[in-house]
Amino acid sequence: MNYENILSETSNGIATITINRPKKLNALNKATIQELHNAFDTADKDPNTKVIIVTGSGEKAFVAGADISEFSDFNVEEGAKLAAKGQELLFDFIENLSTPVIAAVNGFALGGGLELAMACHFRLASTNAKMGLPETSLGVIPGYGGTQRLPQLVGKGRAMEMVMTAGMINANQALHYGLVNHVVEQEELLSFTEKIAGKIMRNSTVAIAEAIRAINANYTDGMDGYEVEIEAFGNCFGTEDFTEGTTAFLEKRKANFPGK
Ligand code: COA
Repeated sequence: MNYENILSETSNGIATITINRPKKLNALNKATIQELHNAFDTADKDPNTKVIIVTGSGEKAFVAGADISEFSDFNVEEGAKLAAKGQELLFDFIENLSTPVIAAVNGFALGGGLELAMACHFRLASTNAKMGLPETSLGVIPGYGGTQRLPQLVGKGRAMEMVMTAGMINANQALHYGLVNHVVEQEELLSFTEKIAGKIMRNSTVAIAEAIRAINANYTDGMDGYEVEIEAFGNCFGTEDFTEGTTAFLEKRKANFPGK
């Protein structure tokens, strides 16, 4: 599929989606959000795609936020609609995909950019990465899930400080906060991310999908995560992957999961 604002390519089971507006530091405008939705949806539905990586083009930015030029004249209703539509199309959508999504944060991840990274299942960063939710410096608050996901990842006090000061943290501080799992040099970021993707790909895709669902349930209002885990655990026993995984272990060989 042809996109104007992103690049999407799949090789060896990994779909790499690159936000490609480097002159605007990959800021998320409406069109980019729609294209990202389409690319994530396509990758998730492709049985050959086992892991999705999202990153930004250029050396400077992952994503420097929502495109400020698009909403600076919005009123109350339009503001609320912007947040609701974005959350539905992209941020909640990514979080609930069955295919693992890794954010490779290669530079600035600000506002909607950090919110995009936080909607992914986990994050890796390059040493030059800078992260923050600067919205209060613009007279607004994070609207793509940032007020919810940041405290989940770093704790309430740190999230409050980051949002109130509108400041940026560097990659090492993000690592210390648990916001990113690993920090590597920028030129190694994609190969390192692919290495982790490779480890994921050895395992059962159906079990991973159930695990994502169960872990997410912990953060979903009105859901009992333990109940979801019990149901998801039970589901695994009805899969060919379970038969293959346990048989391979007992036969002392590597599992070759059919992904069913
Ligand atoms: N929305 C729209 N355009 C953006 C943008 C955003 N979130 N972030 C950067 N850009 C654009 C700039 O307007 C500039 O465009 P121009 O060359 O047409 O003037 C271009 O990207 C380069 O940005 P610039 O500010 O010149 O780069 P810098 O290196 O001096 O500063 C940042 C980098 C990230 C510190 C700065 O761009 C910034 O503060 N961006 C906004 C971050 C933000 O508040 N995000 C939350 C939005 S809710």
